[in-house]
Amino acid sequence: MTDNRTTGIPDTPAWRALAAHHREVRGLHLRELLARDPRRFERFSRRVGELLFDFSRHRITEESLERLLALAREADVEGWRARLFAGERVNFTEGRAALHMALRNRSGRPMTVDGEDVMPKVRAVLARMRDFVEAVRGGAWRGHTGRPITDVVHIGIGGSDLGPRMACEALRPYGGGGPRVHFVANVDGADLADTLAGLDPERTLFVVASKTFSTLETLANARSARAWLVGRLGAEEAVGRHFVAVSTHRERVAAFGIDPEHMFAFWDWVGGRYSMWSAIGLPIALQVGWERFEELLEGAHEVDEHFRTAPLADNVPALMALLGVWYVNLFGAATHAVLPYAERLRRLPAYLQQLEMESNGKRIDREGRAVGWRTAPVVWGEPGTNGQHAFFQLLHQGTELVPCDFILAVEGHEPELAHHQRMLVANCIAQAEALMRGRTEDEARRELEAEGLAGEALERLLPHRVFPGNRPSSLIVVPKLTPRALGMIVALYEHKVFVQSVIWRINAFDQWGVELGKRLAGTVLAELEAGAPGEGHDPATRALIGHCLRLAGRG
Ligand code: F6P
Repeated sequence: MTDNRTTGIPDTPAWRALAAHHREVRGLHLRELLARDPRRFERFSRRVGELLFDFSRHRITEESLERLLALAREADVEGWRARLFAGERVNFTEGRAALHMALRNRSGRPMTVDGEDVMPKVRAVLARMRDFVEAVRGGAWRGHTGRPITDVVHIGIGGSDLGPRMACEALRPYGGGGPRVHFVANVDGADLADTLAGLDPERTLFVVASKTFSTLETLANARSARAWLVGRLGAEEAVGRHFVAVSTHRERVAAFGIDPEHMFAFWDWVGGRYSMWSAIGLPIALQVGWERFEELLEGAHEVDEHFRTAPLADNVPALMALLGVWYVNLFGAATHAVLPYAERLRRLPAYLQQLEMESNGKRIDREGRAVGWRTAPVVWGEPGTNGQHAFFQLLHQGTELVPCDFILAVEGHEPELAHHQRMLVANCIAQAEALMRGRTEDEARRELEAEGLAGEALERLLPHRVFPGNRPSSLIVVPKLTPRALGMIVALYEHKVFVQSVIWRINAFDQWGVELGKRLAGTVLAELEAGAPGEGHDPATRALIGHCLRLAGRG
């Protein structure tokens, strides 16, 4: 098999057939597709338990779907899926498995890495987490001065922050009876200072979360938090009751000064951005309580079972992945919008940015060669309806094709504001419809006439009032934003990302691209501290370091 690096797709039979088919159907309009098939919704929607995936507003025909499925079969998605669940080292550059599904495995079946069933140790950590969560929430775990814990500050960054932060926000209505949970990620001192302002050290618990326990930002924030606590409480021993750690690295946790007895472990087969189901999810459990945390795991497990067993044609993560490939590689879409119609999912786009872009933002294939095709698009988004009043203009009438995911929770948590919820749901459905159908010249003309315009004035305005439509979107609909529903939504995206990585022939589980900047930051920091730029930089970087030193009064 050879790769054709000029056409932008791999040179294989299934890709060639897909490209030929694309040339035939790319001119079709969604209006036509929907008009000619009254059963399109039934044909192009799937369910996983209570979750609906509606992909009827995509620029595909039955044949497109067949050809995309053929691509998945040619790429051996089913074989890779089996290898993923078997705990094989699918993260081939780091020689690691990616078995985050074990963290939420509720089936009682063993899951193995290197022949070892990892479930006993997963269950042991879950049991320790449950005891700890119950002790903190029940008031048995007290601070150094005997006060119960009212506030938890979770310190972590990237995968050790984005998942629990997103989930705590999403599940706020389930937080009754638990401590308030705060998050500090940025090394910008403003983040820590603003969070600590107003907190009572006697009642505050810090969770330091870092897979490697070597991340600069997290360690700097944890050290400053410790200094704040010890300074306020006047006792070094207070650290023992106010700091716990989540990590894979026991020795570094101990070296930092946290008793390893107060460390919750996870393992190198859990990638950072796939880790919210592990002890990294501790703040979620502290906020919503153990039963609700288990419901989150159960939702994700339900999707794991679906992904593992459903035929590709009915497999929602696989379909999400294939639709993404269709737009990225055939239509040349450079971005993908995630639009939660649920205010409490406002951190979901940021979470998915790391999940998708750190996983599949790669340019080297499994054979070590530069890929000749596009891989992950830029993922972005904001909750609706806010986004409608900001960037939807471009979605409707801009020159970029932006496939969209609408995520909708039909029932709200505020029964007294049910009429708000109906407006939210109406807007979500209406936006998907408007993107799909647009407004034709005839329709725009009639509207302008109804507004009383005629002649030259009408003709001048007319082109601006036309919407091309034919803008594709998926709808992911859950009855309510429960822990279970959240678990399902996140797991769908995790598996989508994996399927895409298989089709693009890249490794979804490493992240070498973030290393270079980290290393250079270390060099620049040493120079800022020394008060002079080093010799190793280009002239622009040297000048910039000099400028910042002068502004800081040190140059
Ligand atoms: O900088 C990228 C990264 O390595 C992410 O992949 C990871 O989620 C984050 O840093 C934090 O790493 P750690 O959990 O080891 O502190």
